[in-house]
Amino acid sequence: MEHFYEKLQILESEKKPLTPTERLRAIQGPLLSWYDSHARILPWRETPDPYRVWISEIMLQQTRVEAVKPYFARFLEAFPDVQALALADDERLLKMWEGLGYYNRARNLKKAAQIVVEEYHGRIPSSYEKLKKLPGIGSYTAGAIASIAYGIKAPAVDGNVLRVLSRLLASEEDILKASVKKKMEQDLTDTMPGDRVSAFNQGLIEIGAIVCVPNGQPKCGECPLSSLCLARRKGLLDSIPYKSSKKPRRVEERTILILESGGKIAIEKRPDSGLLASLYQFPNLDGHLGEKEVRAFLESCGFISLKMEPAGKAKHVFSHVEWHMQGYRILLENTVSDRYLFADLTEIRTKYPLPNAFSAYIKLINRES
Ligand code: ADE
Ligand code: SF4
Repeated sequence: MEHFYEKLQILESEKKPLTPTERLRAIQGPLLSWYDSHARILPWRETPDPYRVWISEIMLQQTRVEAVKPYFARFLEAFPDVQALALADDERLLKMWEGLGYYNRARNLKKAAQIVVEEYHGRIPSSYEKLKKLPGIGSYTAGAIASIAYGIKAPAVDGNVLRVLSRLLASEEDILKASVKKKMEQDLTDTMPGDRVSAFNQGLIEIGAIVCVPNGQPKCGECPLSSLCLARRKGLLDSIPYKSSKKPRRVEERTILILESGGKIAIEKRPDSGLLASLYQFPNLDGHLGEKEVRAFLESCGFISLKMEPAGKAKHVFSHVEWHMQGYRILLENTVSDRYLFADLTEIRTKYPLPNAFSAYIKLINRES
């Protein structure tokens, strides 16, 4: 098999280049042998059971492998199987997810686990179509679980795989378009091997992660696809993958209040819907307020402030919004108001999920204790 495809590469001439379908077929040999010798050893690859594959693939969306590793280990310890996840306490679940961001991923994991328990006797379905119907599982994740855990022939196309394949084919189509992804999924379904589907999909994922990297120059010298890669041959690496420009993020200015009293710090729960739903936060106000305005606000809550100092600026970038924050650290004489929850540092560290958006201010209070 492998030799056959190596010959295909050699036979390709300038006059009669491979069709896209032929090119996709031609990557099999070099991709699989490269994966066999270069695949990283990763916790979820050791025993690719469907639960571990599912959790890892959800965590790996939007998050780097190195950042995922410790979360993956802790998550599996806390929720070792679908049943445990289905019964997870919401706050504990979100606390386990703290720092990973995109918290809907965690909420959807639990919802899907409940469906798996109720409708599939606790067994994660071994069908691409059934997987795709579960909350939080789109075509990429369904394909990854189906192929990696069950050996089912199904494509797993995420942004990284689209980058690799659009370069391979020198396709200048917009990889943010759903139709472009769909077409790539169809083309892969038509051309991918029937066996070794796990290695094939993970090989593409792996090239996207460590060779044809998202930021910076692709390492074409180390790439098993380089002799087949049209973007490289045509010098189109700067323009492919093409992504239409997204609308600029809305900027929100916020004033963050670190209110301390008797060794405790004020936090509050965010609303159950919208950005960072149900997570906790430091009290914060719209706009960049001056000391006077902050003092007036505190008085209106019934607080008596003993000391107030600036706590620095911080910025947090979400997918559609940017928070430009400015903080104040305030020592209160009283905690009369039932407006906030006053928690000690241990509770903040272990119990209440506080998103990364506030990490600059969390560090500040952690440093001094
Ligand atoms: N990123 C997404 N899925 C992955 C996987 N299975 N292995 C490594 N990186 C990944
Ligand atoms: Fe990416 Fe270079 Fe490999 Fe082409 S040859 S797939 S551009 S790393």
